[in-house]
Amino acid sequence: MSANSPSVHILHDNPEWIPPLGAALDAAGVPWREWPLNDGSYDLGELPPEGVFWSRLSASAHTRGATHAKDAARALLRWFEASGRRVVNGSRVVELEVSKAAQYAALRAAGFDTPHTVVVIGTADLKARARELPLPFITKHNQGGKGLGVRRFDSLAEFDGYVDGPDFEHPVDGITLLQEYIVTAEPFVTRAEFVGGRFVYAVRVDTSAGSFELCPAEACAVPGSGPDAAEPAPLFTERRDVDAAHPLIVKLEAFLAAQGIEVAGVEFFETADGRLLPYDINTNTNYSPDVEAVTSRSAAAALAVFLGAELAACAEAVAASESVTA
Ligand SMILES: Nc1ncnc2c1ncn2[C@@H]1O[C@H](COP(=O)(O)OP(=O)(O)OP(=O)(O)O)[C@@H](O)[C@H]1O
Ligand SMILES: [Mg+2]
Repeated sequence: MSANSPSVHILHDNPEWIPPLGAALDAAGVPWREWPLNDGSYDLGELPPEGVFWSRLSASAHTRGATHAKDAARALLRWFEASGRRVVNGSRVVELEVSKAAQYAALRAAGFDTPHTVVVIGTADLKARARELPLPFITKHNQGGKGLGVRRFDSLAEFDGYVDGPDFEHPVDGITLLQEYIVTAEPFVTRAEFVGGRFVYAVRVDTSAGSFELCPAEACAVPGSGPDAAEPAPLFTERRDVDAAHPLIVKLEAFLAAQGIEVAGVEFFETADGRLLPYDINTNTNYSPDVEAVTSRSAAAALAVFLGAELAACAEAVAASESVTA
């Protein structure tokens, strides 16, 4: 393969999350390269390299030192798109990845029930707005990921003290969400994975330990997977009862298509009174081997097949245009 042969370019902010994806692409014989978002340069007078560009920018990039990844992704993806390149999870998707307020607005407009959420810009309105929500309520950062700023408050005095005190976590974009606290029918949330816009599997994530940091990435701490064999129930199990025909999944596939989201992990709550509430759209799934070990299908493999097919189509188009100009 020459340096200019079409390849899958993976835009990312964290090299630790790439190996499982790279292994799946290698296994499928799909050439790929990394395009780190932390630094680099490009000449707008040139065209981007040939290939398929897949963005897996993470909203929490700034917490790992990749301060400018969001803005780098915005600039780069516009360049690829303006140059006519095939982009998976492009510039529109970045805007959803980095804003839960944008996610909820889009979900609500598409007819989904979502947790009642008040969006607070800056800190001045926090205490007054909190008085509009029943107790307990949750705070979370608009630009979240890995549970950033997710806290439960059981009293207004506790919340006021938090806002005025040294522990207040300032969101990177200045936007804090105040959200209805959701009590699920059973202590789990569900994460449904989609590749190429199609449902792959749904995983039940046990929340009985009470942690708000449920990132399924291999790099994140996974309670219950340590060497202590006496650990209780596994954190992840596949939900075989949630399949492609499940009404929520059917609706989510249509939503993702309308939003141009091709690769996503969507988290949802199920309440005792039958509410089905999507609350987090992740457009940067890592396909942790811990999760993939319990699922009947591999989303990493599905992704490799999807990106491989897109790359083949792109290589064909390049070859056709070269034969016309030759
Ligand atoms: N409104 C809520 N009521 C009860 N629990 C909540 C609520 N919102 C979030 N949680 C809990 O906190 C976890 C993290 O919340 P959320 O997914 O919104 O944040 P995040 O920053 O995107 O985290 P992650 O990257 O782990 O998905 C959820 O999986 C859920 O268990
Ligand atoms: Mg989440």
